[in-house]
Amino acid sequence: MKSIGVLTSGGDSAGMNAAIRAVVKTAFSYNLKVFGIRRGYEGLIEGDIVPLDYDSVTGIHREGGTIIFSARSEEFYKPEGRKKAMDNLRSNGIEGLITIGGDGTFQGAHKLYQEYSFPVVGVPGTIDNDIGGTEYTIGYDTACNIALDAIDKIRDTARSHGRVFLVEVMGRHAGYIALDTGIAAGAEDILIPEITTDVSKVAQTLSEGIKKGWRCAIVVVAEGDDAGGAFKISKELKEKVGKDIRVTILGHIQRGGSPTAIDRINASRLGVAAVDMLVSDQTDIMVGIVSGEVVPTRLDKTWTQKKGVDTNLIRIAKLLSS
Ligand code: F6P
Repeated sequence: MKSIGVLTSGGDSAGMNAAIRAVVKTAFSYNLKVFGIRRGYEGLIEGDIVPLDYDSVTGIHREGGTIIFSARSEEFYKPEGRKKAMDNLRSNGIEGLITIGGDGTFQGAHKLYQEYSFPVVGVPGTIDNDIGGTEYTIGYDTACNIALDAIDKIRDTARSHGRVFLVEVMGRHAGYIALDTGIAAGAEDILIPEITTDVSKVAQTLSEGIKKGWRCAIVVVAEGDDAGGAFKISKELKEKVGKDIRVTILGHIQRGGSPTAIDRINASRLGVAAVDMLVSDQTDIMVGIVSGEVVPTRLDKTWTQKKGVDTNLIRIAKLLSS
């Protein structure tokens, strides 16, 4: 193997740059050339491919976003799109590909392997942390810290005004960000898609808490919760709880910013491991972190064997919010 490619695809996350830097520097240690494929699979289909050198990755571990940009590609779902992508890999002499992203990114990489036996290694990069075969995904820690900082600030004003706040966090269909930040922020309730939400019960929790003397309350709502978004839930709650209710949607702020130390360290570990795997002919896998160790998992398991939510954390959240 003489040349490899690296791309970031799907929603960006803080720490992707640290992973790209680790990929490039590790590849150089094996005397490999590295190409950055810009805008994920979209750029691969269009041939938007640039060589990466030391200068292009110097200092990028501190930066949010991804220097090679990202996209969600509809065309790559079609065989013709993948054929164009494959032609561009071949014409640039790229013999292996590292894909940084979430389950959509891995499904794409798996297709390249299945259809063309093309060597691929995935690196989990998404704020949602919803990938099987790893307890951690790049950007998750930064997203949680951003959400926590915001909720702490909201708590100040909620307390001053004696209000209930519903704070909606990202996570797509998963409640990891909501559960972890809810615990860290001492939220009075946490609503996640993994547990059916009964708005009457939320109202009861709030009403009882207010009777007990809660001056304010924070309810963290995962965007994928089955009761609908925070605005919808707040409307129902307003009728049931005699308290001023406000809604804050944190949104894409959770995806940006300089990565935390944890995200920089883990992204670096995973970027190095991805290249090590590729050069030792391990392919169609993702490198993840399990019990603190970097381990490979077959790509198809990353979306078919999603990890469940930690029931102990749910217990902790309940115990500490009462
Ligand atoms: O998958 C990452 C994520 O930020 C989700 O949490 C969110 O639902 C989604 O991407 C938002 O996607 P977009 O940036 O395309 O609006």
